[in-house]
Amino acid sequence: MEGPSSLARRAGTRDDPYAQMREARKQPLLLHSMAVFREIFEVVFAHREIRSVVEVGVESGQVSGMYVELGAKAVYCVDPGATAQLRATLAENPALHLVTTPSPEVLPELPVADLYVLDGDHNYAVVERELSWIFDNAPDAVVVMHDLLWPCARRDLYYEPSPLAPEDKHATSADGPTAWHDELTPAGFVGAGAFTVAQHAGGERNGVATAVEDVLARPGNEQWRFGLVPAVFGMGVLYRAADQGLEDALRPYTESDLLATMENNRVALYTRVLQMQYEAAAQAGHADQLAETVSAQRREIDRLNAELHRAWEALRIHR
Ligand SMILES: C[S@@+](CC[C@H](N)C(=O)[O-])C[C@H]1O[C@@H](n2cnc3c(N)ncnc32)[C@H](O)[C@@H]1O
Repeated sequence: MEGPSSLARRAGTRDDPYAQMREARKQPLLLHSMAVFREIFEVVFAHREIRSVVEVGVESGQVSGMYVELGAKAVYCVDPGATAQLRATLAENPALHLVTTPSPEVLPELPVADLYVLDGDHNYAVVERELSWIFDNAPDAVVVMHDLLWPCARRDLYYEPSPLAPEDKHATSADGPTAWHDELTPAGFVGAGAFTVAQHAGGERNGVATAVEDVLARPGNEQWRFGLVPAVFGMGVLYRAADQGLEDALRPYTESDLLATMENNRVALYTRVLQMQYEAAAQAGHADQLAETVSAQRREIDRLNAELHRAWEALRIHR
């Protein structure tokens, strides 16, 4: 049990009552990076010797350096959508190696790693192939995965333009899911061109959680264990059964109903914000239309007034 100093660390002090909200303001409105799972990665690194990491799906590169801080000597940062900013970030650290071939195709080309972090294309076809390759070729690795909860758990997401064959995809929609009803909506969690989602949730071969279940259920994979940290879109940890120490150390996170409740509340609140933003934009569009109608009517009134004026003038001259 921590002493009262933990109270000051989290809540601020009577002399600095704004400390907690200063911390809150530093976060983006929607937490989504795996950087928030640092303490869980610390547990993994404490229980396993992790010298090499394959990080699939890198985006800004804000997590890549963390693996080096925790002890990795080489991190292969796989992202086919690497931006100039990501290239510059990774170039600053000689232990980070950018790889732009997409996963899963790239996995056999890289050295077998101690840790795989899967956070790339969040759909059944890609995740099923990634996990199958790792289980067959890196049986001693730990696999950490993201997006095992809503919205990708039971519904594919496809980064666009998607390189997947049509038979590997479900029919897609540019609309997005929301916590507030089961149907997709333009006011939901939309990709705005960056990604689309499967029109229907559930069923076979749909979603990241379904891919994990199917690979774990295959004969020969009985030794693998799975734990879910139910926070920030859901983090999964896969490791072989012999690792009781890792399983015990993860248990406070994987068995936390509190985390799961907070995650449900977080996505409900966030999708409510999205809905309100959508409605505000629609209202603004409606207000613009009204303003256009009013100004067209003003022009018509001016024209009629001028006509009336000319008529009166003609009448006056005529008299
Ligand atoms: C959610 S972001 C990753 C966020 C990052 N892991 C973090 O926690 O900050 C997903 C990234 O995966 C990349 N991506 C999409 N398809 C991929 C694929 N087939 N292989 C590797 N990366 C992929 C996208 O370009 C995008 O940058």
